[in-house]
Amino acid sequence: MNFYLSCTRCDTHFGGLERRYRCDCGGTLDVVHDPTAFKLKREDLDARRNSNDPLDRSGVWRFRELILPLGDAALADCVVTRGEGNTHLYEASKLGASLGVARLHLKHEGENPTGSFKDRGMTAGISMARHLNMKQVACASTGNTSASMASYAARCGMGAVVFIPDGKITYGKLAQALAYGAKTIQIAGDFDDAMVLVESLCKTEDIYLLNSVNPFRIEGQKAIGFEIMQDLGWKVPDWIVLPGGNLGNNSALAKGLVELRERGLIDKLPRMAVIQAEGANPLYRAWSTSEAIVPMRADTIATAIKIGAPVSGDKSLRGLAALGGVVAQVSDDQIMDAKARVDAAGIGAEPASCATVAGIQKLVSNGVIGRNDHVVGILTGHLLKDPDVVVSYHNGQLEGIDSRRANAPIKAPADIDAIVALLRA
Ligand code: F0G
Repeated sequence: MNFYLSCTRCDTHFGGLERRYRCDCGGTLDVVHDPTAFKLKREDLDARRNSNDPLDRSGVWRFRELILPLGDAALADCVVTRGEGNTHLYEASKLGASLGVARLHLKHEGENPTGSFKDRGMTAGISMARHLNMKQVACASTGNTSASMASYAARCGMGAVVFIPDGKITYGKLAQALAYGAKTIQIAGDFDDAMVLVESLCKTEDIYLLNSVNPFRIEGQKAIGFEIMQDLGWKVPDWIVLPGGNLGNNSALAKGLVELRERGLIDKLPRMAVIQAEGANPLYRAWSTSEAIVPMRADTIATAIKIGAPVSGDKSLRGLAALGGVVAQVSDDQIMDAKARVDAAGIGAEPASCATVAGIQKLVSNGVIGRNDHVVGILTGHLLKDPDVVVSYHNGQLEGIDSRRANAPIKAPADIDAIVALLRA
């Protein structure tokens, strides 16, 4: 076996295929790879982009030796792929100029098969579930993880159980979980309550846990950084900026980039900025006071990141240290204003994703990000995940949000002259 599991707190080691999500001390687990096991060249990874092999066509499995090094034969047996990744890296200099940065790219992870970045971690997690011969999987979710897991489980005929906060997930996401056939349990509580329940369920039942506390979810998620580097011809940008909720994605990004440098595939590391909503900011508080993460009751319009007790706090702080990272917080009003701009640029994304853009603006204005820096922002979810918030914004119906960029529908009589007059006015 070319990999094993290691506790992020006490460094106890476990076998790579042991079904466990935490160390006995409660710490989360890392997958540790043998950096000498494979010689990988940029050209080989690039050549896979022109291949018809389903593994090569996935923006996760193209990097398989760095993700789940079971060997191609074992992977061919267990991998469940929807061709995830391969998302567009938008050149967004016009939007960048309005934020104060000269060079801006936006990596749109909402263009994944189920509409969010979660598909990258999920293809790795569900494939491991199959390798371990599991028949049922479960997760707690603010909506995107459950949508993704429900789809991948359905693709391979596995049972799926999702725990979601009652009444607090968007219809786009709830619709996906129901449509893909997951047993959907709406608990009377928030995401953090749901997370505790699902971890305890997976301890006693023969159900594989697919939240990002599962270290293989993090491994798949690393591909987001690999693909950004590949999209940029392996030229490392100055900054990668992304939102933080349960803190799996930024932990994965940092771990992946550190490993990429260890293997000589990139020559330096970018800096990383994690953006949280002001009402759901446990990482921001910890980072800005150099203290431990203290769980809180979370509240924000960006329901995807409405999380007060993130499971990957330790990994996240470690990743920030490795990448000279910073954490910023933005208000719901700033998130919605940034969202209106991302949407009006023809790109579009759900609110949590746009914390990225609000954060870039904030970090440029306070001088942390330089005006000439090359910035890559990650948009994590599709605009249509949360259509309600869009319509409410443009109708000026969101409490506490100033709909400065509203594009409200225009009421008109069914009369062509009246409509022409309206359009000419
Ligand atoms: N953006 C979106 C659209 C998300 O759905 C999430 C997390 C995040 C950002 C934050 O990423 O948790 O890795 O820090 N959504 C999870 C879910 C928690 O259940 O779908 P993170």
